[in-house]
Amino acid sequence: MKLPFKKALVTGGAGFIGSHLVEALVSAGCQVTVLDNLSSGNAANLKHLEGKFSFYQEDIREAKALHAAAEKCDVVFHLAAVVSVPLTIENPVDAAAVNEMGSLLVLDAARKQQVKRVVFSSSCAIYGDDPRLPKHEGMHPKPMSPYAVQKLAAEYYTSVFYNLYGIETAVLRYFNVYGPRQDPSSPYSGVISIFMTKALLNEAAVIYGDGNQSRDFIYVADVVKANLLAATAKNASGQVMNIGSGRGVRINKLWQTICALSGRSLDPRYTNKRPGDIVESVAGIERAKELLDFECEVSFEKGIELTFEWYRKNQRSEVG
Ligand code: UD1
Repeated sequence: MKLPFKKALVTGGAGFIGSHLVEALVSAGCQVTVLDNLSSGNAANLKHLEGKFSFYQEDIREAKALHAAAEKCDVVFHLAAVVSVPLTIENPVDAAAVNEMGSLLVLDAARKQQVKRVVFSSSCAIYGDDPRLPKHEGMHPKPMSPYAVQKLAAEYYTSVFYNLYGIETAVLRYFNVYGPRQDPSSPYSGVISIFMTKALLNEAAVIYGDGNQSRDFIYVADVVKANLLAATAKNASGQVMNIGSGRGVRINKLWQTICALSGRSLDPRYTNKRPGDIVESVAGIERAKELLDFECEVSFEKGIELTFEWYRKNQRSEVG
């Protein structure tokens, strides 16, 4: 993809999604700066790109570093966050300092450094348990965790910066992102990373509830593509867009698919529904199609295959 901008800052660039974005930007010839405090990101995610980008090992709240990192950038992709919902429940104040105040600082640095556009990574968590499907951007937000409140607050700041200061912004509400490099080691890791690691260890998955709950899974390369389009599309400015596949997959079906790929037949162990677990989640994707001309290129079946291959090669022994 040929990009119409030269220099970009990726906050959270050493994380799962951020590192894939950095890779795409570097291979498109972009000058990339990463700012990451490595609290949940991992330098190993960028090892293969060593020497091809500038790196600030800093927190987004370190104003001096943030301003230096944003200097002369055309675009800021803001992905740095406390990404675990349960962590924000345990420690809402610390998480808000990063997810809310940190986001405000990123926007302000972008404004002062005259960055042209900021692309903010938000979450479908802001829809809460609204049972209506698909979830679309016109729905009234129903945040149910500090994480969702914090993402929503940052979305509002983003929109205020667009309206007050004329800085171009785009907000992407990710659904369930998966792919290579997603860390399976915590109980709150993405279900696909956990199930794949379990299957490779020949262990049964634990399914919370009856397994009929659905999720809209989106492959990380498609999320990267959405970011690149959001950084450049004329109509995206000032907009909020869902980034999902538009298709729901039940957790039981997910486990069966992974078992089939591993060549094993393992019955899952069912346990209590997770508190606050939503039942159905499917993204309405018309707005991203209309404004970004975005569509998922990687089907669920293909993405699962690619991801499984990666976990097979990078097998881990710890799993959530
Ligand atoms: C995801 C996001 C979260 C976001 C939320 C918005 C991830 C890792 N988390 O949470 O940041 O706020 O969407 O709605 O993408 N499950 C099992 N067994 C397991 C692990 C999970 O049955 O071992 C089930 C869960 O109960 C859930 C589903 O799989 O029903 C998906 O779980 P998970 O990957 O943790 O994502 P969400 O809870 O959807």
